[in-house]
Amino acid sequence: MQDINSYLSQHRQGLLDELFALLRIPSVSADPTFVSDVESAATFIKDEMQKIGLDNVSVEETPGYPIVYGEKILDLSLPTVLVYGHYDVQPPDPVELWESDPFEPVIKTTAIHPDGAIFARGASDDKGQMFMHLKAVEYLLQQQKLPVNVKFMIEGEEEVGSPSLAWYVARHHDKLKNDVIVISDTGMVANDVPAITTGLRGLSYVEVAITGPNRDLHSGLYGGAVANPINILTKMIAGLTDEQNRITIPRFYDKVKELSAQERESIAKTPFDLDQYKKELDIDSVYGEAGYTTLERQSIRPSLDVNGIWGGYTGEGAKTIIPSKAYAKISMRLVPDQDPDEIPGLFEKHFKQLAPEGVKVKVSALHGGYPYVTPTDCPGYKAAAKAMKQAFGKDPLPIYSGGSIPIVPLFEKELGSKSILMGFGLNSDAIHSPNEHYGVFNYFKGIETITYFYDYYKELFL
Ligand code: BES
Ligand code: MN
Ligand code: MN
Repeated sequence: MQDINSYLSQHRQGLLDELFALLRIPSVSADPTFVSDVESAATFIKDEMQKIGLDNVSVEETPGYPIVYGEKILDLSLPTVLVYGHYDVQPPDPVELWESDPFEPVIKTTAIHPDGAIFARGASDDKGQMFMHLKAVEYLLQQQKLPVNVKFMIEGEEEVGSPSLAWYVARHHDKLKNDVIVISDTGMVANDVPAITTGLRGLSYVEVAITGPNRDLHSGLYGGAVANPINILTKMIAGLTDEQNRITIPRFYDKVKELSAQERESIAKTPFDLDQYKKELDIDSVYGEAGYTTLERQSIRPSLDVNGIWGGYTGEGAKTIIPSKAYAKISMRLVPDQDPDEIPGLFEKHFKQLAPEGVKVKVSALHGGYPYVTPTDCPGYKAAAKAMKQAFGKDPLPIYSGGSIPIVPLFEKELGSKSILMGFGLNSDAIHSPNEHYGVFNYFKGIETITYFYDYYKELFL
């Protein structure tokens, strides 16, 4: 028998090399040019599952990218943990802002990571974090110490809204049956402030198109006389929020749960340094809904953001036109109990009312997901908290996160199980941004913590 920490130091280089091999595969789910790479990432995970000794490993075809499944069922009377993660990543662009190749991982030290951080797209979101689970189970199986049944379901479409996952889950209730789901795809407060995410925001994502004249027009001959779709679109977007930075869509806030004084107090207790926050982002002031703190604004209040806007002439020099069309992608983060099936309709109605005569408005809903709250009084949460306490020497804080993992509420609906969001990333990991990275410390601490989780889960469950 070898204890986990001596195992991790003995295998340190190998554990990094294996993750690096996965990070070298550019599995960008959003971009069709990477189809074969996304598929090779699935194969890589399948091979890895077989290598560590899981059974019934398979690459499960779906209408989209495959889901990789594997399991170790020791005894049906034991509890079963389902691990979910994703092998797809966000596009790396803008590539020119990366200091190293996004798909050639390197370790560099940073102020926050004196022991080094792995720089690569997907290092933190989610390859590095998902891989820790495979490595933790590999150790437990090698040592013949796996205390419970485990199932893995690793998907390749999380970053595009998991379009095939609902399809798959609906068809495999029995196969996926479990007592708790564990996911490492979120973050902590800091490396010395461990945390477990207890809330996720929901999401409604829409694309809008404004059409004016049937072709681009000479802006001298027509300028001032017809509606310019870009001028109009920007005015309409400006009309979506008011001077208090509240969203103006009628009934948008109707179902928003107001915070109790106690909840606000608990959020205020989360260590947060506003000056540091501004410094890291190179901004001299924060901006958001009046009456709420930054931590509240980014976690338990809804938000509306334009993710991209385009149209007209953006090439070199000046071309004098009134464009025929203008577009924007707009996302809204939702909080309990807002409904992502209802919000796009409310948005569309309001957005159309903001348009003047003379343009056509089209709104398409792209994807969405429900907000989520994890209970803290269930065996899964308690086991995760004990595991973190053992690994970090400190009790973890429950935190609300502003991000979304839409399949989490779906799992609860379809499989009736709760998800424990035991993530090891940091906000400074730059997920979805250039120079994404994941602390070497976080990678190894994560593996260590996960091994403890299984023991505590068995103990608390029985
Ligand atoms: N892992 C993130 C979500 C996340 C990160 C939650 C950090 C909490 C803390 C996930 O991969 C993600 O990016 N989700 C998307 C939603 C999806 C539908 C594209 C998001 O939150 O934008
Ligand atoms: Mn993720
Ligand atoms: Mn992501």
